Amino acid sequence: AVFAVIVVAAGSGSRLGRGIPKAAVEVAGKTLLQWALEGVIAAGIASRVVVTVPAGDTVLRQVCERFGALAVEGGATRSESVTAALSVLNEAPLQTGFSESPATSVLVHDAARCFAPVSSFKNVAEALVAGEKAVIPVVPVVDTIKSVDVKQVVTGTPARSELRAVQTPQGFDLATLLDAYSDLSSLSPEEAETVTDDAMLIETLGMRVLTVAGHADAFKVTTPLDLVLAQALYEH
Ligand code: C5P
Repeated sequence: AVFAVIVVAAGSGSRLGRGIPKAAVEVAGKTLLQWALEGVIAAGIASRVVVTVPAGDTVLRQVCERFGALAVEGGATRSESVTAALSVLNEAPLQTGFSESPATSVLVHDAARCFAPVSSFKNVAEALVAGEKAVIPVVPVVDTIKSVDVKQVVTGTPARSELRAVQTPQGFDLATLLDAYSDLSSLSPEEAETVTDDAMLIETLGMRVLTVAGHADAFKVTTPLDLVLAQALYEH
């Protein structure tokens, strides 16, 4: 398999409250995007890397250049950003030592999960090489999860033993993911907003999605508390 990696970094980071794109926030002197790209390169599987960046950004584009990654302007939603990246996948420069062949598989990774360890990349890539078409890294859920209706009244409690928290990188056979994304233009903006990960689209097609072991370090830096955790882990 020939792997391309998409790093989505076009989010606003509004929940972090810093007033700059989340991927440009620094931990231990490096932007979250730099941490994420170091992780991608360390995994040693990406022949090409595409990064979605916010409109008007220059900081993240410079980081991309240093890593030989192609920067592309993201969209209003995560799924629009992934669509933009998919359309330029094979235009990204080749990483040193990799074959020129076009990608056959793609890993989609949140820049916000910038501390995802090599094992997450390896577990996903190995399952794809073994013939799976869609593979996601997961961890057990620690909280009891309830569903609620519009009035905030509980409607159910799924058995916790059957629930998993989903991380990235999520891996796909490229043709399968392109197929899943080809229907996306028919969604309303409200529906597009509900597509919070890529595997959802594969599930909609009725296709099998395999879970493999993720890692606690692949937590998504979302809130100020997450930033405190990241600093405690990496700033010394
Ligand atoms: O908003 P959320 O935390 O789910 O975003 C997950 C990832 O998707 C982040 O790394 C963010 O930068 C990226 N994203 C994007 N384009 C958007 C929204 C989010 O690339 N329009």
